[in-house]
Amino acid sequence: PRVAIVVVAAGSGTRLGADMPKAFVGLDSRTILRHALVQVAEVPDAQVIVVAPEGREGDALTDLLGALGDDRDRGSVVAGGDTRQRSVAAGLRAVWPDVEVVLIHDAARALTPAAVFARVIGAVDAGAAGVIPVVPVVDTIKRVDNEEIIGVVDRSLLSAAQTPQGFRRDVLDAAYRAADAEFTDDAALVADAGYTVATVAGDERSFKITTPADLDRARALVTRADA
Ligand code: CTP
Ligand code: MG
Repeated sequence: PRVAIVVVAAGSGTRLGADMPKAFVGLDSRTILRHALVQVAEVPDAQVIVVAPEGREGDALTDLLGALGDDRDRGSVVAGGDTRQRSVAAGLRAVWPDVEVVLIHDAARALTPAAVFARVIGAVDAGAAGVIPVVPVVDTIKRVDNEEIIGVVDRSLLSAAQTPQGFRRDVLDAAYRAADAEFTDDAALVADAGYTVATVAGDERSFKITTPADLDRARALVTRADA
């Protein structure tokens, strides 16, 4: 395939506080990971790599095979590391030689519509070294120090970053080889290596399931979709 999608699912989900790794928490009868993979599987002919918590590779494979169906040959599972960046690096080592475009996606953004993947791939195909989906920041943001407001932030200049984040394969490989610090997302790591990263429209449904309230919201959306 020309495109690979690395789905990072190796986190423990500390803030969610469930009694299992976050990726395996159920939204309905299906896990967070399975929901994420159903959307990923809609991207035609892409290699799909799931980065699973160490020791839970078998459970991840069950979700992956369920989502890919007859297309199982394009899927694989690898074990993650103790930071998201290490988990991404583990996934990148499994990308097939012929792949030219790599997308990194958080399993925790389980309800990300397939159309967002298409937009990201389209922007890389159109020449971007890297591209991320963004949504406007809706809250008024304050700069606060010592519990006092010390400045205003122009909201029109702010965007919230989502995934999948897409990159030319050579760019992402080079940036990961050069990385000598922890970055909060792949776009920051790639920008630090000197590349320009573009944006496309994200989607409200791509929110990251982080807290119990996020889980409630995701479960409500899935229930409505079923009805
Ligand atoms: N992730 C990963 N490997 C890690 C840490 C995170 O693959 N060592 C993945 C998570 O599984 C998730 C995505 O990166 O899909 C975004 O991370 P986050 O939402 O922070 O998940 P957790 O790290 O699991 O949650 P928390 O920070 O609350 O522990
Ligand atoms: Mg985390």
